Amino acid sequence: MSTPDLLIVGSGLFGLTIAERAVAEHGARVTIIDRRPHVGGNAYSEADEQTGIEVHKYGAHLFHTSNERVWEYVNRFTEFTGYQHKVYTTHQGEVFPMPINLGTVNQFFRSAHTPEQARALIAEQAGEFAGKDPENLNDKGISLIGRPLYEAFIKNYTGKQWQTDPKDLPASIISRLPVRYTYNNRYFSDTHEGLPAQGYTAWLERMADHPNIDVQLDTDYFDTSQPLNRDAVRGNLPVVYTGPMDRYFDFELGELGWRTIDLETEHLDVGDFQGTSVMNYADAETPFTRIIEPRHFHPERTHYPSDRTVIQREYSRFAESGDEPYYPINSGRDRERLLAYRRLADAEPRTLFGGRLGTYQYLDMHMAIGSALSMADNKLTDLLRA
Ligand code: FDA
Repeated sequence: MSTPDLLIVGSGLFGLTIAERAVAEHGARVTIIDRRPHVGGNAYSEADEQTGIEVHKYGAHLFHTSNERVWEYVNRFTEFTGYQHKVYTTHQGEVFPMPINLGTVNQFFRSAHTPEQARALIAEQAGEFAGKDPENLNDKGISLIGRPLYEAFIKNYTGKQWQTDPKDLPASIISRLPVRYTYNNRYFSDTHEGLPAQGYTAWLERMADHPNIDVQLDTDYFDTSQPLNRDAVRGNLPVVYTGPMDRYFDFELGELGWRTIDLETEHLDVGDFQGTSVMNYADAETPFTRIIEPRHFHPERTHYPSDRTVIQREYSRFAESGDEPYYPINSGRDRERLLAYRRLADAEPRTLFGGRLGTYQYLDMHMAIGSALSMADNKLTDLLRA
């Protein structure tokens, strides 16, 4: 394809949505480049070679939204199953339903509290720090749900996620720890929820399936040996950039901090390892945070083997240079750097920054799509005209 009207760096849901809108609304010719060998960014999934079970390569992805526009939009590219996400957690050899609900409370305290009794119990336990401003995440957790539940279900899990004792983490990391005073243990409370019936990759590839969209994989924007690189393109072509913001500016103001995860995959000769898709491990002695068993994301699929399964153990840690950036740490220093990078980004000629990496924020899939639709509504016309 000759020089495109728009270059999109990154084929995640943000980049794909912009590409699709640019073609549908402006008739633009779009090139998407991605340094990975596949489209879809972190939402990408593939069939496990040994079992055929669809595995989410970069971690479990559950689609949910209350945004009607986003729901209508995504349904143009895929059907969704009726999957409803539920999470359980193992603590001291016992399995409890999550998020903390009346079932968790009654199982934990070996009680049969009514909603009102449970509410009174938690309020009393949460009163330990009454009148004091919590100094750290530990005190904040106790002041939100009381020491017993906090120490059982939150303290060590959070400690593993952050590789840090919650006493050394800022209270601001959590604003609330919801306790449900019903037995409802659906993980999400959005209006719409489900998984793409034919898998994530079919959905993501359909978004890019248009003669005006040219996708170039294994192509890094900073690789000066490929023609559509930053140095060649900067100021000369309209660009939507969804890679890491600090990388774009050669880290000139320092690196933004991220957490990442490691997934350890294992194949097992059993048809069902844990009976559910996600099992958290709340205790410090277990080094991983959770085990994902992807076959349970699609109970409707009959072609999965009945005598084999695949699991992913998930470990959480701080990202180092070269690791996949997953969750922004957002320390005070990160926020200062982000503001300074944003000023540079605002001054960048003909380049818009978007998506979770390009804006340094955690975005669920529906948020990434919603934010891309807003960018398409409000900024694409000017970008393409510039
Ligand atoms: P995304 O990261 O998907 O795409 C960016 C793309 O840019 C990547 O493909 C990357 O290779 C490419 N790129 C970067 N630098 C480049 C360069 N220099 N040159 C070329 N290409 C470059 N959401 C949800 O709704 N439900 C869920 O259950 C989960 N679960 C979840 C688990 C984990 C572990 C993570 C990290 C995230 C989730 N998410 C989620 C969030 C979801 O992954 C997120 O909303 C989307 O990835 C956002 O899409 P983006 O396009 O912004 O980024």
